[in-house]
Amino acid sequence: MKKIAIFASGSGSNAENIITALANNPDITVDSIFCNVPDAYVLERAKKFHIPAVVFNRKELNDPANILHQLRERQIDFIVLAGFLWLMPPAITTAYPNRIVNIHPALLPAYGGKGMYGSRVHEAVIAAGEKKSGITIHYVNEHYDEGNIIFQASCDIIPEDTPDTLAQKVHALEYEHFPHVIIETISKLR
Ligand code: GRF
Repeated sequence: MKKIAIFASGSGSNAENIITALANNPDITVDSIFCNVPDAYVLERAKKFHIPAVVFNRKELNDPANILHQLRERQIDFIVLAGFLWLMPPAITTAYPNRIVNIHPALLPAYGGKGMYGSRVHEAVIAAGEKKSGITIHYVNEHYDEGNIIFQASCDIIPEDTPDTLAQKVHALEYEHFPHVIIETISKLR
């Protein structure tokens, strides 16, 4: 049984989608939610699904004797970043080579990097007059949004689109694809 830890900072709709998609999976389980925002809604979702949650601050994340130790204690095999807004420290990325994935709401390498998250991404894509956007699921290294790309899916942008309507299209791609890409990526770990 492979154990996943999901890191999230916000609403956690992707986390919930992954939890429900893996609910009956015989090989993979969502062990815990790790969150850096004490009142993030993802913590309510963890409660709803009776999944343990670990809330931490920046000092604790960067202390290998703390969060990395907790991941090892929980025997976590794979880490999923689903709306996690901080950089993963090198101590964790090196301890989990090709075992941390992130989802970004744009077609990397464009529209990525520090500070590019949420509506800011969709605003930039629309302002640039792009005709397509989408999602990128990639391995995580010590730089924002720069790990090897695993999967991308795109959606069309029409002139009437706003950052909100584009966000809805991108979220739909996230919910459709993140769970199966996680399953396929973990299955390669065997
Ligand atoms: C998603 O758009 C994801 O692409 C990005 O952060 C957002 C998380 O949304 N990394 P939620 O917290 O899963 O609802």
